[in-house]
Amino acid sequence: MLPTRRLLLGAIAAAALAGPTSAQTTVTITHALSLDSHYGAGSQAFKEVVERLTQGRFQVNIQRNDNEREAIEATQIGTQEFTITSTGPVGNFVREVLVLDIPFLFRDYAHARGVLDGPIGQELLAKFTPRGLIGLAWMENGFRNLTNSRREVATPADVQGLKIRTMENQVHMRAFQTLGALPTPMAFSELVPALQQGTVDGQENPIPVIVANNLNQVQRFLSLTRHVYSPAVLIANPAFWNRLNAQDRAAFQEAAKAAVKANRDRVSADEQRGVALLRERGMTVRTEVDTAAFQAALAPAFEQYNRQFDAALIARIRDWKPGS
Ligand code: PAF
Repeated sequence: MLPTRRLLLGAIAAAALAGPTSAQTTVTITHALSLDSHYGAGSQAFKEVVERLTQGRFQVNIQRNDNEREAIEATQIGTQEFTITSTGPVGNFVREVLVLDIPFLFRDYAHARGVLDGPIGQELLAKFTPRGLIGLAWMENGFRNLTNSRREVATPADVQGLKIRTMENQVHMRAFQTLGALPTPMAFSELVPALQQGTVDGQENPIPVIVANNLNQVQRFLSLTRHVYSPAVLIANPAFWNRLNAQDRAAFQEAAKAAVKANRDRVSADEQRGVALLRERGMTVRTEVDTAAFQAALAPAFEQYNRQFDAALIARIRDWKPGS
């Protein structure tokens, strides 16, 4: 055999032996916000750790899709491998997760992060598997606050009659209905035109979202209602996940941890500076809100959630204490 032919055959045999592990695979992760946001921080950390720990065998392509329901569907059917999404539309896929969307369930960030990082969070992530999704890690969107173009909101009476865009989430819709508002569910992708055209008067989102999307350009009043904690979750496509060998799966799990940390650090930083920034951008910010009156007005909704969902789980979440 000619030496060049022998060399060529050797190279092919070596490549075949190395198998698919030496090939480069590109995976896609989507989220609804820009790279300069709390989700962007998470996805960039995810990309950095995946590519480093797999020595570049996996490349991560970050894309924006501000229709979270569509992104979950795409992750379920496998046209993309990962998505970071708020729990807004997740309850339409994994019903058990809806309890997390109950207003005033979490006292503060430490409470929410403690619950989601502990056994309750793990139990809920396990519920994704039978629904054709892998729940990898709890991330964070933040405490939601109300903005609108009509008036300052400090009490439940101020909300009455306002057309509020909500996420496609039955728990949130029920809450706004109970307060006498007119909840209008729609994907985030439709929000800005709806606010511009006056189809809705207001919307509610965490400070990091209001800042990252310049919602101050379309909304005048911000009230720090903090009426509901909005978790986010990193979801994977099961077929992709189950194909990974143990070492690569460990790399993706490390990347998920890094994503959670970067995401939460950015939420905390945005919460620190966001309100001042939104004031500078011209919003009228109402910091004193009668939270007790909002909770009292929501009593009929709370009763319904207890009937509709796992009341014991709701109590476990509400009563959670550090170290429990
Ligand atoms: O309002 C929403 O739909 C969500 O909070 C958003 C902005 C897409 C982030 O998850």
